[in-house]
Amino acid sequence: MTIQLETIPLGKTDVRVTPLGLGVWQWGDTMMWGYGKSYGDADLRPVYDATLAAGINFIDTAEIYGRGRSETVVGGFMRDTQTRDQIVLATKFAPLPWRWGGGSLLNALHNSLNRLGVSKVDLYQVHFPYSLISVETWANALADAVQQGLTRTVGVSNYNVQQTMRAHAALAKRGVPLASNQVEYSLLDRKPETSGLMKVCGELGVTIIAYSPIAKGILTGKYTPDNVPPGRRSRQYNREYLSKVQPLIGLMKEVGQGHAGKTPSQVALNWVMCKGAVPIPGAKNLRQAQENFGALGWKLSEDEVAALEKASAQVSSN
Ligand SMILES: NC(=O)c1ccc[n+]([C@@H]2O[C@H](COP(=O)([O-])OP(=O)(O)OC[C@H]3O[C@@H](n4cnc5c(N)ncnc54)[C@H](OP(=O)(O)O)[C@@H]3O)[C@@H](O)[C@H]2O)c1
Repeated sequence: MTIQLETIPLGKTDVRVTPLGLGVWQWGDTMMWGYGKSYGDADLRPVYDATLAAGINFIDTAEIYGRGRSETVVGGFMRDTQTRDQIVLATKFAPLPWRWGGGSLLNALHNSLNRLGVSKVDLYQVHFPYSLISVETWANALADAVQQGLTRTVGVSNYNVQQTMRAHAALAKRGVPLASNQVEYSLLDRKPETSGLMKVCGELGVTIIAYSPIAKGILTGKYTPDNVPPGRRSRQYNREYLSKVQPLIGLMKEVGQGHAGKTPSQVALNWVMCKGAVPIPGAKNLRQAQENFGALGWKLSEDEVAALEKASAQVSSN
């Protein structure tokens, strides 16, 4: 049986997403996450099934995740289960240095649609700004994609305040709303608050989608000074950094106890939702996914949010 969750609109569009989604960078990426080594498609299919069973409808991928593999994996699961209509499907265009004009965005979108096995996506995002090509060039190409029926809505990612305002204005001239800006946001990275981005997005009616909402696993509490994360993550999250994070993790455990034993991951994700952003945690297996889904259906109090932010200010780099 599928659970019926509340949904919220993506920006000022009629596309509605659950307050928490699923990010699938892990579904194909070997370099950062070890796909095909420590886990594979047999672990991921149960995550896909459990996501839908939990009533979650929002899945975020990108053409560069595993060089297209992530889109192929999601597309395969959708096809095998005939569940395309249950998903708000988001993917992204990477403005790589050799991509010069709007035509390259439309070509990339056609390739994504082929890998996903669909005729249109629900949200198409520019993955990051690229200084040599104007914000307006990509915004116009996004508007073309909407007009050609290749995507229902459009968004950006990693855009700062100025870039977001410019993209919003360029799209508005074409009659297309900017639905979302996907940025890093968690108790360990609060730049969207301090930079003014959340305020501006609120004013413009642009949804903030929060990536790395559990700080790539750090806010689960499983990594400690004596157990640093493997691979590339250990550069940013080294022994010294992890020592500084421990008081925050301790508070998250304490706060979670007051909510029938919620875990630090669930507290981290609930905090993002309390701030009005849509977290899209990644998961490599069913256990991780199900734990993350437990962030839904309850709410931190205002005092708890304030206490977590006070502890986060001791560690957060922003
Ligand atoms: N737009 C962008 O530029 C951008 C950038 C980054 C990410 N994203 C998107 O955002 C999504 C999420 O961000 P993210 O993957 O960087 O970070 P995240 O969601 O904060 O962390 C995901 C990782 O944490 C660990 N984990 C997750 N749930 C867990 C649990 N319950 N218990 C224990 N460990 C758990 C897993 O790694 P281990 O098991 O290896 O610890 C997992 O791969 C991505 O999938 C992608 O869709 C977008």
